Amino acid sequence: MKVIVCRDYQEMSVKAARMIAGQIILKPDSVLGLATGSTPEGTYKELIKLYESGLIDFSEVISYNLDEYYPIKPDNDQSYKYFMDHHLFNFVNIKKENIHIPNGMMQDPATECKEYDKMVENAGGIDLQLLGIGQNGHIAFNEPDSSFYYETHLTNLTDSTIEANSRFFDSIDDVPKQAITMGLGTIMKAKKIVLLASGKNKQKAIAKLLGDKITSAVPATLLKVHPDVVIICDEAAYNG
Ligand code: GLP
Repeated sequence: MKVIVCRDYQEMSVKAARMIAGQIILKPDSVLGLATGSTPEGTYKELIKLYESGLIDFSEVISYNLDEYYPIKPDNDQSYKYFMDHHLFNFVNIKKENIHIPNGMMQDPATECKEYDKMVENAGGIDLQLLGIGQNGHIAFNEPDSSFYYETHLTNLTDSTIEANSRFFDSIDDVPKQAITMGLGTIMKAKKIVLLASGKNKQKAIAKLLGDKITSAVPATLLKVHPDVVIICDEAAYNG
């Protein structure tokens, strides 16, 4: 794992955006795995600037998002679909048919999750996967547990994640208790992974990720065995 420690959130965002831009320049039809949450917001802002300056073109880019709350309607302003439209997709020339986000209103999660993985596979797999990290070390919505799912699946959110994410909702009772998430196998198959972390509240998770144990209590530690992971974090996430 390569670790890039940045002064602050802005520097982290610029570096991450440039890395994604490099991927798109090298392979214009890249398959990007995209993440939500407050951490990648700045990265998406910087990517939009790079697009507006003519440096990158999204016309052939294909995207697969990591996760979505369940159940949630796509037009709910807390859905990850809404987040992606308002933080990136509405501002770049990515084709609508190339955007994929798990459907928060799936009727048959078991079948539709399988189809999601099949689509990723048929697209040739993910070239670059952007990740955030939960305070409890979750990635996407793969929460600490005694064992993990390999494939995309419906999962229950832990109380700590519901509490951490309640800051985006009017009340904690409005936070969905479940989500559809790519499994750790799906994520680990990405050719390159860029994990972002910013702020003191991520320091414990980053310290565990950089420690020498792989444990299901901190799902992100599985990334230690991936051959191409870059962690871009700010000093607060690195040193506390
Ligand atoms: C959510 C998402 C994760 C994200 C995490 C951290 O639970 N499912 O993909 O990494 O939150 O979010 P934030 O960046 O807002 O701290």
